Amino acid sequence: MSLTFPLHRNPNPAGDDEVARVLANPGFGDHFTDHMAVATWTKADGWAADEVKPYGPFQMDPASAVLHYGQEIFEGLKAYRHADGSIHLFRPEANAERFQSSAARMMLPELPVADFVTAVEELVKVDERWVPVSAGEQSLYIRPFMFASEVFLGVRAAERVTFCVIVSPAGPYFAGGVQPVDIWVTDEYSRAGVGGTGAAKCGGNYASSLIAQYEGYEHGCSQVLFIEAADKDRVEELGGMNVFLITADGRLVTPALTGTILEGLTPDSILTLAAELGLTPEERRITPDELFSGIADGSTVEAFSCGTAAVVTPIGAFKSKAGEWRLPENGSPQTLAIRNAILDIQYGRVPDTHGWLKRVR
Ligand SMILES: Cc1ncc(COP(=O)(O)O)c(C=O)c1O
Repeated sequence: MSLTFPLHRNPNPAGDDEVARVLANPGFGDHFTDHMAVATWTKADGWAADEVKPYGPFQMDPASAVLHYGQEIFEGLKAYRHADGSIHLFRPEANAERFQSSAARMMLPELPVADFVTAVEELVKVDERWVPVSAGEQSLYIRPFMFASEVFLGVRAAERVTFCVIVSPAGPYFAGGVQPVDIWVTDEYSRAGVGGTGAAKCGGNYASSLIAQYEGYEHGCSQVLFIEAADKDRVEELGGMNVFLITADGRLVTPALTGTILEGLTPDSILTLAAELGLTPEERRITPDELFSGIADGSTVEAFSCGTAAVVTPIGAFKSKAGEWRLPENGSPQTLAIRNAILDIQYGRVPDTHGWLKRVR
């Protein structure tokens, strides 16, 4: 039976002036709204107790399994307000499907796609005043997640699981907006290996990336690029984004999905749009040597990172312990064209010819 997430309205919502204050400068991931969607799953009874209720803390037993064994997954998508005031999600079913495959990898229950989308829609509807007017790059960031809430110590799949969705008004992910960011290429730390959890969106992948991320900060970089763990002969992805190169002869190149990379919706959408933008998409192996020598010899003319949070952000340079490879300072015209093509669809400034938008309001 489908979940409906009935509303139990917050009796003390934020005042309109408070909402206006937050929307004037939302930052990223700093402010949360009046409500959240929740449901629980038990091995005995399946999904139940679905509701949209006042936003607030969970009461957690210290022996809750997630606190010890990290059985947890999450998703990230956004709601966009169009110029006519309507509110739209971008490919939410694809997020729901990725949530299912992350769940399968982490031995969590697979929430039906329709229930995932209903939870998101019902929450966005009730908190619609928190969806910013589309000035610049503002949106409502949506964070569905699921964790092992059974109270036990012992390594096995939890028999009680909590699903929740929270939402947060958001501005640009990088404080500098669309300024090029520098990327640290770590040769010491790995994000994923064959048979590991690289393709799942689970918290542990992000916790394990932090040490490399902080090494990058020390070298003035905003993100870290991971190389394949065993042979070190394949560029994979950034800590929280996918990576693309654009060559002088019009190829749009990104690492092939080999099971160790998160299958991003943004890169998938960009690959679909490539031909419309006059670029030839290529998903294949990129060696670190090719990455560096292509920049050095001028055959790689642009590079960018992409993901739901950061949209499309030009890369200024790749840095590693071995040196620094700086992209030409050419204003990243093709990267910005790709960025605008995605944003124009998301904000309804061009027709949605791929059927990617789902209207909520
Ligand atoms: C590790 C990682 N890779 C890639 C992406 C890009 O995925 P998407 O475009 O679906 O946001 C993300 C962001 O969610 C991510 O965390």
